[in-house]
Amino acid sequence: MRDDNFLSEMNARHLWHPFGHPGEARANPPKIIRRAEGVRITDEAGHTTIDGVGGLWCVNLGYSCQPIKDAVAAQLAELPYYSAFKGTTNGPAIELSVELARWFGPEGLTRAFLTSGGSDAVDTALKLARQYHKLNGEPGRTKFVALTKAYHGTHWGGAAVNGNPLFRAPYEPHLSGTFHVPSPYAYRNPWDETDPERLSALCLRMLEEQIVFQDPATVAAFILEPVQGAGGVIVPPESFLRGAREICDRHGVLLIADEVISGFGRTGHVCASRRSGVRPDLMTLAKALTSGYFPMGAVMVSERLADAFEHEETGGMIPTGYTYSGHPVGCAAALACLAETERLKVWENAASTGARVLAGLEGLRRHACVGDVRGIGLMCALEIVSDRDAKTADPARAGRIFEAAYRAGAMVRWSGANLVVSPPLTLTPAEGDAIVAALDQGLSEAG
Ligand SMILES: Cc1ncc(COP(=O)(O)O)c(C=O)c1O
Repeated sequence: MRDDNFLSEMNARHLWHPFGHPGEARANPPKIIRRAEGVRITDEAGHTTIDGVGGLWCVNLGYSCQPIKDAVAAQLAELPYYSAFKGTTNGPAIELSVELARWFGPEGLTRAFLTSGGSDAVDTALKLARQYHKLNGEPGRTKFVALTKAYHGTHWGGAAVNGNPLFRAPYEPHLSGTFHVPSPYAYRNPWDETDPERLSALCLRMLEEQIVFQDPATVAAFILEPVQGAGGVIVPPESFLRGAREICDRHGVLLIADEVISGFGRTGHVCASRRSGVRPDLMTLAKALTSGYFPMGAVMVSERLADAFEHEETGGMIPTGYTYSGHPVGCAAALACLAETERLKVWENAASTGARVLAGLEGLRRHACVGDVRGIGLMCALEIVSDRDAKTADPARAGRIFEAAYRAGAMVRWSGANLVVSPPLTLTPAEGDAIVAALDQGLSEAG
């Protein structure tokens, strides 16, 4: 292994990082993570911390899940790759589709289209929504509605429906025909409404007005994260998704639930749609599908949509997909991961340990720079401000707190003014307390 200074220098010279500034890597080198075990990661200096990020909201089972490692090794030995494009397939891909249909049967989602990650899944879902309307005799339905603060990945479709102007601006113009309505973000919203139910009702009214304004006959789908993740962990009341479903139904608009983060237990439910008892038309999944051990995603499709595709002779052909759709190694990883996820019922621990972590984070409001605390299950966020009354977001201070918390033993995710906690769902209560304690220390030092 080369020495660390050499690696940092090479990183600054040759490696561009997603969402990083290429000119910044020398002044502010990224942490080089060397190894991981259980819920802990160790960096190049030998400093070990609890991974309060779960890699990137994905390592739900921690880093030592032997069944996934074994399944990957066995599959590599037997069949490291074969295409699942029309004409060929493989056993793990078929088995995975059966498993996913069982997992999401309660949502009526019984067909799987496999992808290489979440952005692929989002773009595929948007395409399938448009194609469905064409098959269904409504070719004019091409527009998409999404929420502000939304994050749906970085391909052109996902980037167009993303609701963070910072991520949108450099790549304008986006896919035409995408529109945004306010997110049910109680800390900041156009009405300064803090009551979640009243805010939810206002946002739903804006959704319906936007659909009507566009002309429902031109709207293909409303896409949302049932709990917004990268936008800062925005948790609407359960009724929000039900209300969105009703509005979509009233206007013939499809509902796409982007569960790339919330799928497989993070919110304390198997998926966030189930929390609201809602059956989306399409659901996107990735991340915890393999606990991050292999790049994989999926789009789950409802029976109603499937019918239109399967019974249409020519138009039902799906002319999209990825070389690694149905990758046998990824599917083997996913099968082992789902079996462990179910055996451990990790959503139960996400609910109980998550409630404890959130209560601990609530206690950090005693630091004046903590403007807001939000969360559900094991996805939580602190929003850092320089002035509580004015709610002035303070990303630089959040960065200093992040560094101090890291030194104190917990990696959290610094995203703008938010400090996000999304650890493996195997986290123990004591490890949850340790994350809160490290943030407390970080706030005392740098808040
Ligand atoms: C809700 C949501 N959708 C889509 C994506 C994109 O997934 P990927 O980074 O695997 O392409 C993400 C990634 O964080 C996400 O949070």
